[in-house]
Amino acid sequence: LLLLALNQYLELMDFFTAIATRASAVRLIEPAPTREHLMRIIQAGTRAPDHGRLSPWRFVVIEGDKRGVLGDAIAEAARIANPNLNTEQLQRERDKAFRAPTIIVVTGKINRAHKIPESDQVLALGAAAENMFLAAHALGYGVMWKTGTPTIAPNVKAVLGIASEDPIVAYLYVGTTAAAGPVKEGPPIEQLVRWL
Ligand SMILES: Cc1cc2nc3c(=O)[nH]c(=O)nc-3n(C[C@H](O)[C@H](O)[C@H](O)COP(=O)(O)O)c2cc1C
Repeated sequence: LLLLALNQYLELMDFFTAIATRASAVRLIEPAPTREHLMRIIQAGTRAPDHGRLSPWRFVVIEGDKRGVLGDAIAEAARIANPNLNTEQLQRERDKAFRAPTIIVVTGKINRAHKIPESDQVLALGAAAENMFLAAHALGYGVMWKTGTPTIAPNVKAVLGIASEDPIVAYLYVGTTAAAGPVKEGPPIEQLVRWL
């Protein structure tokens, strides 16, 4: 941990090291990313390629007590989907918002009348999310990328101030790593590539 903290102050992780060591965190705790680091992470997001330079990205940052607003909405979405959930099950849903000290919701304004295809605009949001994952990792933080019901539930979008037509591509849970996930090897790339 000390080494990680030192690394954070002395020099940033080399680019390929960052990519090679990136993994989803298993458990995240305080301290939260600093405001300065959050701005750097979001800046990295907006450096993603963006067909047509439409700057579709929008971000919602949820920290501290504000996580309760998200947690209540996630629990409400679960209750709407299944009115039979008991108190304990609803509490588990609410607790999801407390998986990390900070959550960055990666969303965007898609111009559906534009000649740039909608899919390209949404891909720019995904590229931003990965840039942000890597930036947070390079700054020494742990990250989880989550989607699921909270990306589509109308009541969740409403409390976050996200229009129903705006896609959410990621809930980036960011914090200090308490349990790191394994770095997966992945299949040998020879199996995935054909050279024409
Ligand atoms: C678009 C997208 C959505 C994801 N949604 C979830 C999710 O809802 N829940 C989850 O546990 N992980 C989610 N993940 C994380 C993946 O499960 C994870 O990246 C994968 O298991 C590989 O693990 P690694 O990140 O440690 O390499 C998502 C990843 C992406 C790219």
